[in-house]
Order: sequence, then structure tokens, then C-alpha cells
Amino acid sequence: MSLGFDLKEVPGDLYGKRRQEPALCLMALAAPYLPRLAKLTGLLVRATELEPRPVLEQRLVVRERELIAVNDDVVSLLLEAPDRAALPRWWPGAHIAVRLPSGLVRHYSLCGDPADTRSYRIAVRRVPDGAGSAEIHETLLPGAVLTVQGPRNAFPLLPAAMPTGPDAPISWGPRRIRFVAGGIGITPILPMLDYAERKGMDWSLFYSGRSRESMPFLGELERYDGRVVVRSDDVDGVPAPSEIVGDVDERDAIYCCGPPAMVTAAASALADRPAVGFHVERFVSAPIVDGKAFEVELASSGEVLHVSGQRSILDVVREARPDVSYACRQGFCGTCRVKLLSGDPEHLDNRLTSAQRQNGDMLICVSRAAGEGDRLVLDL
Ligand code: FES
Repeated sequence: MSLGFDLKEVPGDLYGKRRQEPALCLMALAAPYLPRLAKLTGLLVRATELEPRPVLEQRLVVRERELIAVNDDVVSLLLEAPDRAALPRWWPGAHIAVRLPSGLVRHYSLCGDPADTRSYRIAVRRVPDGAGSAEIHETLLPGAVLTVQGPRNAFPLLPAAMPTGPDAPISWGPRRIRFVAGGIGITPILPMLDYAERKGMDWSLFYSGRSRESMPFLGELERYDGRVVVRSDDVDGVPAPSEIVGDVDERDAIYCCGPPAMVTAAASALADRPAVGFHVERFVSAPIVDGKAFEVELASSGEVLHVSGQRSILDVVREARPDVSYACRQGFCGTCRVKLLSGDPEHLDNRLTSAQRQNGDMLICVSRAAGEGDRLVLDL
């Protein structure tokens, strides 16, 4: 029996995407039952590949470092185990959390080859006033040691099911995939292109940036000639929303990673095409929609903070307590977890289990109070 794709290629970690792709949703829901199902049916399925695995922490060494944008503000780092041991597997769209020598934690997409089991490649753009990126650019030379968590995948690519013919399998995947990348947003997309190409998928890439000099990995895209549109704002102007999404329809999917303006433009172009699968990896928190204002009390001091409908608890709390930790700001890494001592929360993360929520855990980068004017007391 053919499912049309290799089950081992289904990402182990599907949080955040179950609502968007029915096939992923079904596979994620079925994962706990697959070992029994496999026994019953005799299917040779390594079902454990579908189950979320514990997040690993390991020490890795910077083996190589390279400037990869002509204007020198993007470096790529090749990370390996000190003894060059094999590293945990990953799938296109995965990222790792990097703890820097200063203690800062930052998340970076893996942009190397998933088949390379000895190294991870990440690319980092120097962000103005970005302490994490500045530390990487200025201090992480070959030989530096980092602590890395992961890989995890919050941006999984739906496995391909494209082959056709007399024995054509059930088609689970989209008909065509439109990849959209802005600047450093090319990093999670890069391994997806290779995957799509190897699987014979029908795909295209729209890649834009401020200038060609600022756009990393242009050289690695040359082999996909004909499928890739590269444009830069300084020559071509800011792209129109319709240009970004192209002619996608309800049988297609878009995988988009870029600055907020690009994501918003793509979303606006799809407003009249709601059936298109729209998968987004953001650099920053998603905008708060219909947010209600409420209060947060810091238990240790009794200080009461006002959280407006447009701001997150994390942003407000960090003004009073700048040392509160965070990383992804999107509710999937767990770094900003705090204990809720009283109050009625609205959990909006993709990370905590119901047991953890009942235990009072809360991710304050995305979660909020349930009602307008409510007060949450946090163990801070
Ligand atoms: S910062 Fe990652 S879950 Fe809040």
C-alpha cells in the first residue's frame, strides 16, 4: 500500500499548523495510535517518527563561519558536535534555539542539508540594536562553543504526493507550492526548495529584499533557474501583493517567511482566496487581533501594570522587569513561561499541555486575560 510519501518524512512536531492543513492534522491526531495500527495491519511504519520527541540540548562548536551577503551583514555558521558525532535529524522548516555565551537565547532556522547528519547550518543577519545578532557577528568565530536546543519544527512542509501514473497514490499534498521569502526569510525556505525539487513537486519561489547586496544565498538559487523570481526594492520597487502570491488557487499552498510588511501583503492578496493553504514563519510576534485591555499584577512587589489591547504581557512586563526571558515571542519555545497565581487566562500558545495550564503555567508572549478589565497575578 502506498500513501504517496514516506511517513518518516512527516515532521515530528506539528504544533501550530494542525488547523491549516487537514492532512497534517489527521496524521498528527493518528500518531499515538499508529504503533497499534501498524501491528494490526502489518504495515511497516516507523510510527514513532510521528510522535513529538523530547527537545534535546547539546553543546556544539562553530566549525566554519562565512559572510554570505555582499554587504557583509549576514553570516552563516556551520555547527558540529565537538567529536563530530551524528546530530538529531531535522526536516525543512526546522529551527534551533541557540544559547549564546552571554546567556541570550535566539532562534534560527536550519538552512543546510537535512541529509547532512554531522552539522547544522544557520544564517544570522545583523539587526540594528539586536544584542543577539551583534554578539554572533562580533564574537562567534570558529572554535566557539554554544548550547543548542532542538531541532524543532513550527513551519513544516507538507510531504509531497505528486507522482502520477496508473498506480498513482492518494494525493495528500497541494497541487503547487509557492514559496515566498523576504531577505533573511530565505533560510527556512532553502531546504524546502531542495526537498520540493527532489520530490518532483510543482513549485516556484518569489524572493525579494532591499537590494541584491543584502540578499543571502542568491548563488545557491541559480540551479533552480526558471522557478525563481528574484527582485529587489531598490531596482524594482516594493512588490505588489498580487505579485508576491502569483496565481495560486485553492489547490495550492504558500510557504512564506519574511518581514511583517511582506506577510501582511501576501495575506491581503489572499483575502478573496481563503482556501489557499497559507503557512507563515514570522520574525516577530503575530499582530494582536481584537485584543482586550486587562491588568497584570507582579506578585513579588504588588505592582499593577496595564496591558492595552494592542500589546502583549511580555512587552509590558519587560518595561518593569527587563530581565524576563523570552526567545520566539510566538508561543512555541516556552522560554517566557511564568506561573499564574490567580486570574482567568486565555491561553494562545501552541506549546503547553492542558496539565501544564492547569498547573498554572502561562506563556506571556502570546497568552492574555480572558476578559476585558480582568487581573492576572503572575509569580514575578
Ligand atoms: S518567547 Fe517563546 S513561547 Fe514565549
